[in-house]
Amino acid sequence: MKPLHTICYISNAKPELSNREIEEVFEVTSHNNNEFDVSGILLYNMGHFFQVIEGEEEHIIDLYENKIKVDPRHEEIFEVYNKATTKPVFLEYDSKFNIVKTEEDLQKIKDYLYNVKTSTSDKLTRLLRPFVLFKDVK
Ligand SMILES: Cc1cc2nc3c(=O)[nH]c(=O)nc-3n(C[C@H](O)[C@H](O)[C@H](O)COP(=O)(O)O)c2cc1C
Repeated sequence: MKPLHTICYISNAKPELSNREIEEVFEVTSHNNNEFDVSGILLYNMGHFFQVIEGEEEHIIDLYENKIKVDPRHEEIFEVYNKATTKPVFLEYDSKFNIVKTEEDLQKIKDYLYNVKTSTSDKLTRLLRPFVLFKDVK
C-alpha cells in the first residue's frame, strides 16, 4: 500500500470573496477530491475555511503545496497538522469527500469524531465546536 498523508488547516478567506465564489471552491473541491480519492472535509464559516485532506502522500502534498497554498481566494493558512498517517480519520467514514453544508452533515462529522476518539479526532472535535453552517451566515 502506498504511504498515506493527512493535512489539516484553518485559513482566512479573502474578505471580498462572494457567496458564489465560495460555492465554486466547494464545487471544484468535491469534484476533484472524489475523482482523485482524496477524503476529508471542507467547511466555511464567518470568513474562515477549515479543511482536512487525507490520501496518497504524493497527491496530498502536491495538491496542498501547488494548488491550495497558492490559491488567492484565501490567506494566512494556519496548519494544525501536516503528517504521514497510518490511520486516516475520514478515509473509512465515507468514500466521498465531504462538503459540510447541512446541519446533519455537521452532526455526522461531530458524531464520527466523537466515536473514533483518537487524539487527532479530539483535536478536530474541539476545532469544529464553534463552526456553524455556511447557510446560517448568509
Ligand atoms: C480553501 C480552499 C480549499 C481547496 N481545497 C481543494 C481541494 O481539496 N482539492 C482541490 O482539488 N482543489 C481545492 N481547492 C481549489 C484549488 O486551489 C484549485 O483552484 C483547483 O484544484 C483547480 O486547480 P486547476 O485549475 O489547477 O486544476 C481549494 C481552494 C480553496 C480556496
